Amino acid sequence: MRFYVVTVLPEIFGSFTATGLVGKAIAKGLVGVDPITPRDFTTDKHRTVDDTPYGGGSGMLMMPQPIVHAMEEAEAREQPRSGTRPLRILLSAQGDRFDQAMARELSSHAALTLVCGRYEGVDERAVARVDREISLGDYVLMGGEVGAMVIVEAVSRLLPGVLGNASSIVEESHASGLLEGPQYTRPAEFRGDKVPDVLISGHHAVVARWRRREALRRTLLRRPDLLTHAPLDASDRKLLAELERELAAAKLLGPVGPATLAPDDEG
Ligand SMILES: C[S@@+](CC[C@H](N)C(=O)[O-])C[C@H]1O[C@@H](n2cnc3c(N)ncnc32)[C@H](O)[C@@H]1O
Repeated sequence: MRFYVVTVLPEIFGSFTATGLVGKAIAKGLVGVDPITPRDFTTDKHRTVDDTPYGGGSGMLMMPQPIVHAMEEAEAREQPRSGTRPLRILLSAQGDRFDQAMARELSSHAALTLVCGRYEGVDERAVARVDREISLGDYVLMGGEVGAMVIVEAVSRLLPGVLGNASSIVEESHASGLLEGPQYTRPAEFRGDKVPDVLISGHHAVVARWRRREALRRTLLRRPDLLTHAPLDASDRKLLAELERELAAAKLLGPVGPATLAPDDEG
C-alpha cells in the first residue's frame, strides 16, 4: 500500500520512514511513504505556498494550486503502480474523527494521498477537491503531518505481513470493539506487585476467559460507550452482569454509569 503525503515539511518523515515497524514495512516493500511537497508546484522564485486570506483575518492560508497539483502528482505516480486513483484525504480539525474502523476501511485502498495543512489552514477550493476530511480529535494541531503519521501507522499495521504476530491485531484494543485488558511481562513480581496467578497457570482456556473478563471490565470502567456496539455473546453478557454487580459493590460503578477511582482508592 502506498501513502503519498502532501506536505511543506517532507523532512519530518525522514526518521519516521527509516525506523521501527514502518521502516521495516517499507524495507520489505509492503508499504511506501512518498512525501510530495507543494513547493515543487509553485511558479515564483520564492516557491510560495501560502497567502493572506481574502476578507482579512489573522494568519496565512495554503493556496489551492500547489496542493491540487501535488495531489495530481500523487495520482500520476500511482497510475502505473496500481492503476487506481489514491483516495484524497485532508487532515483537518473539522473532519470525521479517525478511529480503528476508519483505519480498517482505509486499509482496503491501494493508495492514499494525505494532505497536511499548515498555517491557518487550506483554501476551500483545495478542500473541495479532496474525497474526505479526517480529524485526529477535537483539538487543533500546528499541521497535518503528525496526523498523517498516525494514519500511516494505524493503517499499515493492519496490512498482511507488517506485524510479526498477526494475532496481535485480533486481540488488541478496539479490534473486537472492546479495550484490551491488562498485560504483564517479566518479572513475575515487581515491587511487591505479582502477576495474576492465572497467567502463569498454563491453562490456555482459563487464561482466555480471564482476558475476556478483564477486557470487559476495563471497557465497562473506561469506555462503557463501546459496549453498545461491541459484538457480545451470551457468555460475555453473563460476565458483564457479574462485573457490574462486583464493581457496583466496590462502589466503582455508580447507578448511572461507572465512577472513576477516588484518589484514596488508588492504593
Ligand atoms: C493550525 S491548523 C488550522 C486550523 C483551522 N484554522 C481550523 O480552525 O480548523 C493547521 C493544519 O493542521 C491540521 N490539523 C489541525 N488540527 C487537526 C486535527 N485535529 N486533526 C487533523 N489535522 C489537524 C490541518 O491540516 C490544518 O489545516
